[in-house]
Amino acid sequence: MNLCVIGTGYVGLVTGTVFADLGNNVVCCDNDASKIDMLDRGEMPIYEPGLEEMVKRNVEDGRLTFSTDLDKAVRDSEVVFIAVGTPTGNNGYADLSAVKDVAKVIARNLDRYKVIVNKSTVPVGTGDLVREIIDINKVRLDVEFDVVSNPEFLREGNAINDTLRPDRIVIGAPSQNVAMRILELYAPLERPMIITDVHSAEMIKYASNAFLATKISFINAIANICEIAHADVVQVAKGMGLDKRIGHEFLSAGLGYGGSCFGKDTSCLVSTAQKLGYDFTLLSNVIEINDQQPTRFTDRIKTALGSLKGKNVGVLGLAFKPNTDDLRDAKSLQIISNLLAEGANVRVYDPIAMPNTKKIFPQIEYCENAYDTANGADVLLIVTEWNEFKYIDLSRLKELMAQPIIFDGRNIYDPDRMSRLGFDYYCVGRPTVKRDSN
Ligand SMILES: NC(=O)c1ccc[n+]([C@@H]2O[C@H](COP(=O)([O-])OP(=O)(O)OC[C@H]3O[C@@H](n4cnc5c(N)ncnc54)[C@H](O)[C@@H]3O)[C@@H](O)[C@H]2O)c1
Repeated sequence: MNLCVIGTGYVGLVTGTVFADLGNNVVCCDNDASKIDMLDRGEMPIYEPGLEEMVKRNVEDGRLTFSTDLDKAVRDSEVVFIAVGTPTGNNGYADLSAVKDVAKVIARNLDRYKVIVNKSTVPVGTGDLVREIIDINKVRLDVEFDVVSNPEFLREGNAINDTLRPDRIVIGAPSQNVAMRILELYAPLERPMIITDVHSAEMIKYASNAFLATKISFINAIANICEIAHADVVQVAKGMGLDKRIGHEFLSAGLGYGGSCFGKDTSCLVSTAQKLGYDFTLLSNVIEINDQQPTRFTDRIKTALGSLKGKNVGVLGLAFKPNTDDLRDAKSLQIISNLLAEGANVRVYDPIAMPNTKKIFPQIEYCENAYDTANGADVLLIVTEWNEFKYIDLSRLKELMAQPIIFDGRNIYDPDRMSRLGFDYYCVGRPTVKRDSN
């Protein structure tokens, strides 16, 4: 099938590449010419394990191309995927301007029947809006089209695998016939598929992200109680997770959720509910708990050290989660801002996300590696749980630090071991251990 994917970001590039790998002819388009230039040179605009090899293979086989010419790409395709960004706009609602722009491009190039598939995360009713924009603006009045919702659930850092082996594929279509056209595309993956109406598919995406965010804020609230009650949230989560109705996933206490999706999708769902006349206070509280976690963390550091003024603070991990260079809504940003406001000297290291961070915080010091970051530090913070921090030589780290104090925002070390190694070790929702407590 001839497909085009409009928006060559995390979702569009990965989706387009996987569809090409499944044997389709795919044009990935973007209005950002620098991205398309990079891709034409064989360079990846994003970091995603396995992506570069898959792109290269499909470009070489002639099934995958890149273009800024959206008009031609739409005309040449039977199915048009919309995968542009939908950032937070006014009052927490999604900014749909890119989706609307693309709908207009589709309208003026609708030269024969096409299926328009919305892969961007969009509030319930956006399928109707896209339909309306195309209807109003289409040049060929005789040409028919359908709009389908096919929300994306991939996780950055695992995007290729998630696209090849998703838990489920959701197809929200106006009729069974239209749904079958999209189902055909996914059939080679042999994964569970659910066919719904368009509104329900749009809601499935938001309800799923809101539920996962709720789990995270729930365990973080429990962690905050554990800190006061001298209980260990890791044990609590283990005990809860063994209940099959609850499960272990998304029950790791820490600094809260970040990334490009949970923050904006939860805000958008609260705002959508409000528009529809429902007050979603439960989700508002989830957002509030999440927003407070990083400041609770930096307040605890300040209390432990007395003052942060002039203190050398090492930060390990900047990306919103491991295996990505994405800083959108990363907890590191709020933490670094808080540290700078308190007058700390901030030195940071991340295996991949430093170039992106330099654009936001040019004034802080960027280190070669974790040991370099620890050198002379009065306190070291774990902000992203990269594997290389989990398996670091802690004795060497301690030797380098001015004071052996670690604040672990991701609970990656065993407290007893940290105490034995001679650290003051503060984590989230677990009792603090001091170097002389054993
Ligand atoms: N990143 C994720 O993990 C993820 C997961 C699931 C769903 N989503 C959703 O998928 C959508 C895309 O997310 P993303 O992370 O890929 O975003 P992104 O910012 O990485 O990519 C979006 C791309 O769209 C391009 N674009 C914007 N306006 C355009 C226009 N008018 N014409 C052509 N191109 C245009 C941008 O230049 C950019 O390259 C969002 O709605 C997001 O919520 C993202």
